[in-house]
Amino acid sequence: MVNTVNDQWNAHLYDKSHSFVSQYGIDLIQFLAPMENEKILDLGCGTGDLARQMKDLGANVIGVDKSANMIEQARNKYEEIAFEVKDATELLYKNEFDAVFSNATLHWVKTPEKALNCIQNSLKQGGRFVAEFGGKGNVQTITNEIIREIKTLGMDFSEEQFPWFYPSIAEYTSLMEEVGFRVTLAQHYDRPTKLDGELGLQNWIEMFGAQLFNGIDEKQKQNIIKRVEHNLKNILYKEGNWFADYKRIRVIGVKSSY
Ligand code: BEZ
Repeated sequence: MVNTVNDQWNAHLYDKSHSFVSQYGIDLIQFLAPMENEKILDLGCGTGDLARQMKDLGANVIGVDKSANMIEQARNKYEEIAFEVKDATELLYKNEFDAVFSNATLHWVKTPEKALNCIQNSLKQGGRFVAEFGGKGNVQTITNEIIREIKTLGMDFSEEQFPWFYPSIAEYTSLMEEVGFRVTLAQHYDRPTKLDGELGLQNWIEMFGAQLFNGIDEKQKQNIIKRVEHNLKNILYKEGNWFADYKRIRVIGVKSSY
């Protein structure tokens, strides 16, 4: 997750309306296959639901997230788990974890080499990194349309307004290899994601895409969202629900000494 100084995250709304994020992460826990007493870092733990699942499987989990709001909510929900506010690019752990797990977080990190170095340093020799996040082309139908509408209204759109890093497999696995991972799995797959109800697309844009509208006033923002909804209805709206064009990267890397 992002941003403590200017914490954009409403943890209650996240739990109420966007719990699909951790629901999908349950599959990733199967790739991690945590074992009894393994020490696991949940990087970008949000409000702690997946950390809790790993703990229930017997692992010794620490959850970290850049958002203080998310960590406060995680601590309230799961008192028995250690949660800390930490940025993925500023971790100071050294050879401590059997595994680093990260679901739906690393697309927020626009300096991936820094995060990968921190992850590598955090792992014990032979430890594994298991992650899933948005890959090249993720939600592109939505973001292209928002950017097009912003420009149509005569405004500029700068690279800094785009909050995400969506790499290809080649790009991300090369970065992993550069910091010393042996990549044992890499997938880039389509996962159309249901955004519940008539307001699903609008709610998603408001929850996750606020930065796209930096420098744009609220009235114009709402106007743009309405136009985007209108233009995308034929493509992304089916039988009462919106479906976002998610494209996921899933990777596993092992900390190797070669
Ligand atoms: C994702 O999980 O791919 C994602 C979630 C929110 C915003 C952008 C991408």
